[in-house]
Amino acid sequence: MLAVLKLDHRPKRDERITTHCILVSRIFGVKRFFYTGERDPDLEERIEKLQERWGTGIQVEWRRSWKELFSEWDPCHLTMYGLPFRQKLKELKSSKRLLIVVGGPKVKPEIYRLARWNLSVSNQPHSEVAALAILLWELRGHRFSRFKGKLRIRPSARGKILTEQDDP
Ligand SMILES: C[S@@+](CC[C@H](N)C(=O)[O-])C[C@H]1O[C@@H](n2cnc3c(N)ncnc32)[C@H](O)[C@@H]1O
Repeated sequence: MLAVLKLDHRPKRDERITTHCILVSRIFGVKRFFYTGERDPDLEERIEKLQERWGTGIQVEWRRSWKELFSEWDPCHLTMYGLPFRQKLKELKSSKRLLIVVGGPKVKPEIYRLARWNLSVSNQPHSEVAALAILLWELRGHRFSRFKGKLRIRPSARGKILTEQDDP
């Protein structure tokens, strides 16, 4: 089982970044996405609506505290200060309950202390969306998940071809 936790969500300010973390998790087959910080029903509704059209796959769950999740899962915290993630890929793949944790502007020292792994995707600052995508790309063997939604794209060299399925 694989899940993702986004720490300290702030509605409005983090709307796009958290949405992008959820969508990236979804295309790599993550089934549960937790977030802490302020509860954001608009965010949850937007993802639900998107999944009605493009296919369900991920469940978004707000949690008051990250601590419980850390005791239920094997937390892998992504941070530019951590060890290079490739060194630990084998261990991550063998976890039965892997929780990938991404932060925001300030991550508490306690997270670093209680995470099972603190791993970096380069030791330069960039983005939680990019770090998550690169780690998931490796973990999921360079594959995306498939979805049964109402909308489907027919890949094309130019333009946009969108088909609608009545009964997906
Ligand atoms: C705005 S960045 C803050 C950078 C932060 N000082 C750090 O510890 O990585 C927000 C989040 O993006 C992720 N992130 C940014 N750069 C990263 C990197 N090089 N490797 C892994 N994760 C990174 C981390 O999860 C971080 O909490």
